[in-house]
Amino acid sequence: MAKTPMRVAVTGAAGQIGYSLLFRIANGDMLGKDQPVILQLLEINDERAQKALKGVMMEIDDCAFPLLAGMSAHADPLTAFKDADVALLVGARPRGPGMERKDLLEANAQIFTVQGKALDAVASRNVKVLVVGNPANTNAYIAMKSAPSLPAKNFTAMLRLDHNRAASQIAAKTGKPVASIEKLFVWGNHSPTMYADYRYAEIDGQSVKTMINDDAWNKDTFLPTVGKRGGAIIEARGLSSAASAANAAIDHVHDWVLGTGGKWTTMGIPSDGSYGIPEGVMFGFPVTTENGEYKIVQGLSVDAFSQERINITLNELLEEQNGVKHLLG
Ligand code: NAD
Ligand code: LMR
Repeated sequence: MAKTPMRVAVTGAAGQIGYSLLFRIANGDMLGKDQPVILQLLEINDERAQKALKGVMMEIDDCAFPLLAGMSAHADPLTAFKDADVALLVGARPRGPGMERKDLLEANAQIFTVQGKALDAVASRNVKVLVVGNPANTNAYIAMKSAPSLPAKNFTAMLRLDHNRAASQIAAKTGKPVASIEKLFVWGNHSPTMYADYRYAEIDGQSVKTMINDDAWNKDTFLPTVGKRGGAIIEARGLSSAASAANAAIDHVHDWVLGTGGKWTTMGIPSDGSYGIPEGVMFGFPVTTENGEYKIVQGLSVDAFSQERINITLNELLEEQNGVKHLLG
């Protein structure tokens, strides 16, 4: 028997990430090849943006996706998020050349307060929310705080792009296939302070740290390359990453809904106090997922270098959080 369609709300649907994301959701890449979807697409209440959205929807129509059970355009989050099972909060102002992510904090805080309240009012009580729009962790924190009647655990931030970037760098360094890398993850904020940790990573049961055996490469090449990748792409393209960001969003929700089968991945989630991260801070953690729920991988030791890196990214997040406190009432 055919499954009941899942309602997927996407904000910023006419933007560049949207253009890489929507077709893949409708194609079943995110929720499974047997899962019909209904797309509820939100754009700003602006003639050009709404017209562009209509154009994207025409193209989606023209793909004749068998899994697409419905699609609607919205200018109001209260209708876009109605009964949503999944909400991908992509719409925000992207960072341009030379801009720091913190510069965007205030403007985006307004957007995510409104959207958090709307999710609270109309979304499914089990809605899975992924925030992609930057600064992703703090925007997710704001949305979560603005939706007190929804479980906090329903709100997540996208660290998966950093995770995938780290995996790709390690595959290149070791000469091994990216799919063979396990137990890799990223701590903290989706920003250059994130800490991609391969101390526990394995390839075919062998320690990646032993295979690489080069702490200087970790500190001087790997971490800066992964941390500054977003900026490097902006410099090269004149636009922020889009297809890789959409791909990471697909991976994040796919694994959250369908499970990792015991494998580790990275999600930005509200801390439960694990590893000394204060409760509620939206932080990248190693997780496994099963039956639509994530669980933090416990019991990992944190050496002095790692603790120092974790503290840096945590302090940045606490600062961001403090910077928006006044907006949260
Ligand atoms: P874009 O400017 O191409 O598209 C953003 C779209 O969002 C625009 O069409 C805009 O009209 C819309 N929008 C703005 N405010 C909105 C609102 N309140 N409601 C609904 N729609 C709204 O930008 P993009 O390249 O698609 O990037 C989107 C966001 O994703 C940016 O903040 C970017 O920095 C971020 N990003 C995050 C990651 C990550 O790993 N977390 C990676 C890449 C990009
Ligand atoms: C990225 O990591 O590619 C995005 O978050 C864009 C950015 O501003 O770095």
